[in-house]
Amino acid sequence: MKINILVGTMTGTAQLCAQEMELALDDGETQVETLLMDNLDSSVFEKDGVFLICTSTYGQGDVPDNARKLYEELGAKRPDLSKVRYGVFGLGDRTYAETFNFGGKRFDDLLTELGARRIGERHKHDASSGILPEETALEWCREWLALL
Ligand SMILES: Cc1cc2nc3c(=O)[nH]c(=O)nc-3n(C[C@H](O)[C@H](O)[C@H](O)COP(=O)(O)O)c2cc1C
Repeated sequence: MKINILVGTMTGTAQLCAQEMELALDDGETQVETLLMDNLDSSVFEKDGVFLICTSTYGQGDVPDNARKLYEELGAKRPDLSKVRYGVFGLGDRTYAETFNFGGKRFDDLLTELGARRIGERHKHDASSGILPEETALEWCREWLALL
C-alpha cells in the first residue's frame, strides 16, 4: 500500500500534521510519501497508491498559496481521476464561520467532480477548539487507514 500525502499550507501546521501521519502510517508494509503542493501539477495523480489531501484554508475560504497552482490546473485541465481514491484532512478555524474548512472542501468537491472517490469523511480541524491538529491527525489517519 502506498499513500501520497499532498500538503497545502501557509504557516506549516498542515505540514506538521502530514509529518505526524507519515510517521504513524509508514511501517514498511504501508509506504508514505509526503509532498508539498508547491510546483505539483495534475500529473501527480498518476502516481501509484491513494492520496491524502492535507490542507489548510486562507483568504476568504481559499486554498493556501502553495496549493493554488495545483488546484487551478486541475480545474482547467479536468483530467479523468476515476482511478483515484483519496481522503481529506482539512485545517481551518470556525471563527471564519462562512468559509470554515473550505480549503479541504474545495479539493474534495473538485476531485469528486473529476471522478475520484473519497474514502471516509472529510476531516475538519478547528484551530479555535484548542485541540492540536497533529494530535487529531494521528487518530484520524489510523481510522482512515482501516477504511482503506
Ligand atoms: C489570514 C487568514 C485567513 C484564514 N481564513 C480561513 C478561512 O477562510 N476559513 C477557515 O476555516 N480557516 C481560515 N484560516 C485558519 C487557518 O486555516 C488555520 O489557522 C490553519 O490551522 C492554518 O494551517 P497552516 O499553518 O497549515 O496554513 C485563516 C487563517 C488566516 C491567518
